[in-house]
Amino acid sequence: MGDAPVIKSTALYYNYSKDVEALVDVNLQVERGSVYGFLGPNGSGKTTALSLLLGLLQVQQGSIELFGEELQANRIGILKKIGCLIESPSLYGHLSAKENLEVYRAVYGASRERIGEVLKTVGLADTGNKELKRFSLGMKQRLAVALALLPSPELLVLDEPTNGLDPNGMIEVRELVKKLNMEEGITVLVSSHILSEVEETASHIGIILKGRMLFQGTLQELHLFQQKRSKIQIATSDNEAAIAVLQDYEPEKLQETLSVTLNDNKQAACINRLLLENGLDVYLLQPERHDLEQLFVVVL
Ligand SMILES: Nc1ncnc2c1ncn2[C@@H]1O[C@H](COP(=O)(O)OP(=O)(O)O)[C@@H](O)[C@H]1O
Ligand SMILES: [Mg+2]
Repeated sequence: MGDAPVIKSTALYYNYSKDVEALVDVNLQVERGSVYGFLGPNGSGKTTALSLLLGLLQVQQGSIELFGEELQANRIGILKKIGCLIESPSLYGHLSAKENLEVYRAVYGASRERIGEVLKTVGLADTGNKELKRFSLGMKQRLAVALALLPSPELLVLDEPTNGLDPNGMIEVRELVKKLNMEEGITVLVSSHILSEVEETASHIGIILKGRMLFQGTLQELHLFQQKRSKIQIATSDNEAAIAVLQDYEPEKLQETLSVTLNDNKQAACINRLLLENGLDVYLLQPERHDLEQLFVVVL
């Protein structure tokens, strides 16, 4: 089963009540060795999907295969290979990093040495007797990841691990995800509601909106997908005149600039030429960077 995707969900459906359909026809595929960024705004169904994958919610419709095996058929065997951080674990402020992990060691059947190993992996080996309450937010979250690493998982599932962190903490967690993937060979599924947050770490992206998958593919494929329907911002020596010149492109007037939606990147060159040919100086012609929310607006 070496080549089977680590995660494969087929037509996954879940509702919390008749009115709240949290997931509809979700087909997730996470390849071994990848970092999969699972993106969607709040309330789009990320935690629900991850909870189903981890057997924390019962599948209502559809199926889940992990490591090439049906989850239902071998729940315990499969879940042993997964480390997860789906909500903040209970960690104790008056205990050190090592003592906190010691509390959970028996639950995972991990050895004493394993505690030292995971602390080293997450960069907390030198914290000694320092109490958790004196840790930075990033250090606390790295300890939470260390806890998820105790059972030596092949797959790590992190649900919005940078939520609530300060910018430094976010960087620390991002770097850790990269390291776990590259140095330890762990497949990582990490969710977020901010595209830029996972763009740096993920090799693959899945985007979910209102319980439905909008996009799934490599990061490069996402960029192509974004470019195809991108917007550019334009400023010229006479924006009113530019609106008339560009009327076929249906420019939108913003405060200092115009915004044009492109169907194809080559149109930017045509627009530039058109403006120059009509005697207008072009001060600015640049792509609008899509954040996730914008991407959804553009796609729908
Ligand atoms: N325990 C629950 N009971 C009822 N509705 C829920 C529950 N958990 C989540 N939901 C609803 O399901 C949808 C998806 O939520 P969730 O999976 O938590 O999204 P995300 O993790 O992307 O923010 C939302 O409409 C949310 O309000
Ligand atoms: Mg969530």
